[in-house]
Amino acid sequence: MTKLRAAITGVGGYVPDYILTNKELETMVETSDEWITTRTGIKERRILKGENQGVSVMGIAAVKEMLEKTKTDPKEIDLVIFATVTADMTFPATANIVATAVGATNAFSFDMGAACSGFIYALSTGASFIQAGTYKKVIVIGGDKMSAILDYTDRTTCIIFGDGAGCVLLEPTTEDVGVMDAILKSDGNGESYLHMKGGGSRTPASHESVDKRLHYVYQEGSAVFKFAVTNMADVSAQLAARNNLNADTITWLVPHQANKRIIDATASRVGITDEKVMMNIERYGNTTAGTIPLLLWDYEKQLKKGDNLLLAAFGGGFTWGAVYVKWAYDCK
Ligand SMILES: CC(C)(COP(=O)(O)OP(=O)(O)OC[C@H]1O[C@@H](n2cnc3c(N)ncnc32)[C@H](O)[C@@H]1OP(=O)(O)O)[C@@H](O)C(=O)NCCC(=O)NCCS
Repeated sequence: MTKLRAAITGVGGYVPDYILTNKELETMVETSDEWITTRTGIKERRILKGENQGVSVMGIAAVKEMLEKTKTDPKEIDLVIFATVTADMTFPATANIVATAVGATNAFSFDMGAACSGFIYALSTGASFIQAGTYKKVIVIGGDKMSAILDYTDRTTCIIFGDGAGCVLLEPTTEDVGVMDAILKSDGNGESYLHMKGGGSRTPASHESVDKRLHYVYQEGSAVFKFAVTNMADVSAQLAARNNLNADTITWLVPHQANKRIIDATASRVGITDEKVMMNIERYGNTTAGTIPLLLWDYEKQLKKGDNLLLAAFGGGFTWGAVYVKWAYDCK
């Protein structure tokens, strides 16, 4: 029987118009453009403003753009997966909201919560349904409205994150392209270093939880940094080795955009030079599950059929992993 692979056949993205610069952050917390730029590589990030604007707004815009570009009839979509930690509501799933809004009325849909690794987890999950022959058109979205859960009095977290969403379409192919391999990992010991205490079933929202500022991202930055540097690099090197990929044959490293210093460490571990590393952290910051699809969206025009992409991410949980994708089309 011919082996089916899941090819990425389209990309969409959306970032809100409002630009929060390092300069503006200087007026909000005790920080400086110089500190943020040298410690993280970030210059600005986008913020979704307005009443009643959840992450679905960005997911819907990204998917609509992608359906239009690929001339796909939304009724043919079988499955929508939305990777996010900032769902519009605890339930229903934001994927559900997006699927209906874009007219994917024959799809089923669910959210995936793996923080900054959410998109690569969801990509791998969506690809498995295609490879098994179960479904023919799967949309995988990654996006977050981090501004909804950031404490803009905490200079160690609010400078890093931003809002945005991107998506891909997965379809079956018998060619030797698509999602080729993946290594995905998690370790619940990471809970204490990066989490949000309030709003879940352990600590439901109350006056006290609000007074104690529990509905914001809590992060021990340097512990997360050390973990990320080691594990994102390790898993990328492992995945490259088992697929006989090296610095020459990898066309692009597509790393989660959390901190430029973490990206540089991963690239140097796999031996990849700067011009082969996708990067937009300076413009968007860390959009959590949004970073990797937004990189694909930004670089789509430079991608060619047969390019070897190494996607790598880490995030709260801890979660981390790498996915090897052979690009399936030349962008027209
Ligand atoms: C958060 C992060 C940027 C902080 O950078 P760092 O180099 O580790 O800095 P530290 O936390 O060691 O703090 C160094 C000093 O800078 C200060 N500092 C922290 N944030 C600052 C800011 N925004 N502006 C100015 N100074 C700041 C600290 O208070 C500390 O001061 P001190 O030495 O007087 O105590 C970095 O740890 C990081 O990127 N971690 C990973 C975060 C991440 O990837 N999260 C997402 C996971 S998906």
